[in-house]
Amino acid sequence: MKFKENIASLLAENILEVPYEEMLNALEVPPDSSKGDFAFPCFRLSKLFRKAPNIIAEELSGNISKPDYLDKIEAVSGYINFFVDRLMFSKQILDNVNTNVDFYKSDIGGGKTIVIDYSHPNIAKPFHVGSLRTTIIGAILGKIFKAAGYNFIGTNYLGDWGTQFGKLIVAYKKWGNDEKIKENGVYELVNIYIKFHQEVDTNPALEDEGRAAFADLERGNPEYIKLWNWFKEISLVEFNKLYKRLEITFNDYTGESYYILNNLDKEVINNLNQKNLLELSEGAYIVNLEEQKLPPCIVLKSNGSTIYATRDLAAAIHRMQKYNFYKCIYITDYKQSLHFKQFFTVLDKMNYPWAKDLVHIPYGFVTLESGKMATREGNFIVLDKLIEEAKNKVLEVITAKNPDLENKEEVAEQVGLGAIIFNNIYNNILNDIVFKWETALRLDGETGPYVQYTHARTCSLIKKNESLINLEKVDFSLLTDNTSFDLVKLISSFPDSIIASAEKYEPMYVARHLIEICKAFNKFYNEYSVLVDDDTVRNTRLYLVNAVKNTLREGLNLLCIKAPEKM
Ligand code: ARG
Repeated sequence: MKFKENIASLLAENILEVPYEEMLNALEVPPDSSKGDFAFPCFRLSKLFRKAPNIIAEELSGNISKPDYLDKIEAVSGYINFFVDRLMFSKQILDNVNTNVDFYKSDIGGGKTIVIDYSHPNIAKPFHVGSLRTTIIGAILGKIFKAAGYNFIGTNYLGDWGTQFGKLIVAYKKWGNDEKIKENGVYELVNIYIKFHQEVDTNPALEDEGRAAFADLERGNPEYIKLWNWFKEISLVEFNKLYKRLEITFNDYTGESYYILNNLDKEVINNLNQKNLLELSEGAYIVNLEEQKLPPCIVLKSNGSTIYATRDLAAAIHRMQKYNFYKCIYITDYKQSLHFKQFFTVLDKMNYPWAKDLVHIPYGFVTLESGKMATREGNFIVLDKLIEEAKNKVLEVITAKNPDLENKEEVAEQVGLGAIIFNNIYNNILNDIVFKWETALRLDGETGPYVQYTHARTCSLIKKNESLINLEKVDFSLLTDNTSFDLVKLISSFPDSIIASAEKYEPMYVARHLIEICKAFNKFYNEYSVLVDDDTVRNTRLYLVNAVKNTLREGLNLLCIKAPEKM
C-alpha cells in the first residue's frame, strides 16, 4: 500500500486532463500536519479550467469519494488536503522500516551509470582541509546515487602530471634527503617544494630550471620518470591512509599522467584538427569559444606541451568509452568552474552528444578560524592533524560523560569525523564555510554528533529491552497522536530526501532530514515514557524507536558517518 501513489491515482481518476506522473510530482507534504498529510495545489489547474484555484479545490474534493485509507479530504485555500488513516499509515511504514533492510532505497536510477570524479588529490602535496571536501561530497553522493538505484563508479583522477613535478625534481636534486623522505613521506616532499618557492624569490632562474626539468620528464628522461614514480608512490601511501580512515574506495585511479603516457592527449589534438577546431594564437593552439561567450580553451602550448584541459578532454572521451555513463560528475571547488565550462563546450563542438551529460558540481572553500591555507606558503593544515584534534576534543567530552565506555578511542574518532563531515555538507555545498569547533561538535545543535548521539540513545533503549519487544503486542492506535505521528511521517518521507539529494547533487537534504527526525524523536521522548510497565504501550513505543534507530543509522551511513551504539 503506497499512500502517496494511491492519492495520485485517485486524483488522476478525477482530473482526466492531468497525467498520473504529474499528480505524483505535484503532491506536497505540508510541514504542518493540520494542513493534511499530503496536499495537492490547484493553482496550476486554474488556467486549464478557467476557475479560481479555491473553487477547483472545493469542487474536486466534493467529487472524490473517500477511500478507507484516508481519514478525510478537505479543500483549504486552493489546496486539496488529504489526511491519511493514521493507524494504517503507521503500520505500513513501521513494518517496512523494521523488517525491510532496503526500506530507504528507491529505483529512480534504473541501474544507469553515474561516474563521479572526486577527491583527485595532487601528488606530492598533502591532503588538506580543502581536498577533504571533494572527497566526502563525492563519497556521499556515490552512496546516495546507489540508494536511488544508480550504478555508481568513483574515479580518482590523480593530479600526477604538471609543471610542479619539474619543480619538485629540481628541489629534490638540490635539497632532497632520502632518509628524511623515507621517514616523513609526503611531508618531506612538501618541505622541499616549499623551499623551492622560497628560493625562487631570490633566484628566479629556478623557475626555468623547473620548467626544463618538466619538459625532460615529458620527453621520458628515465631518471626523472623513476623519481616521478617514486614521488607518486610516497604520496599514495599518505592518501590511502586517509581513504582507509574514511572507508572510501575507488573503482579507478586513472590519473592525469595516464593520458599523457598513452598519447591520448595527442589523439585529442589530432581529432580537434580533423574537425577544424584548432586555431593558432601566439604560438599556441586554442579552440575558439567566442560564440559561446567564453575565453578560448588552450589545448597545446607554444612549447608543444598539452595542458590540464587537453587531458580532461582525453579523460572524458576515454571514460565514455569505458563506462558509457548516463552522467559524469566532477566535484571541485568553484574556482575551476570556467575550466569545466570550457572543456565541456569543446566536447560539444566536437559533436559528442554526451557532452551534455557532463556536470560540474562546484563547492565553496573551507577555512579554519585562523584563515585560509595554501600549500605553497606552508601554512596548510594537514587533514590528519585536524582529525586528530577532533578526536581528542571528543575524547575529553566522552571521558567526562561516560567514563566507563569501553571503546572510547574508536568512538571519539567516529564522532570527531562525524562533526567534520556533517559540518561540510549541512548547507549548500557552494557556500564557503568557516570551520568552528564549538559549532561542529555541539551535541545539541544541528551537527553530526547530535545525530550520532540521538542514534545512540535509541540503541540503548532497544538494547535494554530487545527481549521485551513483542510484535504481537504492537497497537498502532497508540501512535495516532500528533507527536508520535509526526515522527512516523518523518520516517516515511526519508526516501524522498535521498531522491532530492540525488537529483540536486546536494547531500544537505539527507542531513537536514536526519536533524528533523532527531528533533521529532527528542520531542517524543520528552513527552512519553517508553519503558512503561504496560506491555502493549511499551512494545508499541519501542517499535517506533526501533524505526527511528534504523533510519538514523542508514542516514548516517549515507553521509559516510559511523553510527556508534554507545557514546
Ligand atoms: N587535481 C585537480 C586539483 O586538485 C582536480 C581534478 C579535477 N578533475 C578533473 N577531471 N579535472 O586541482
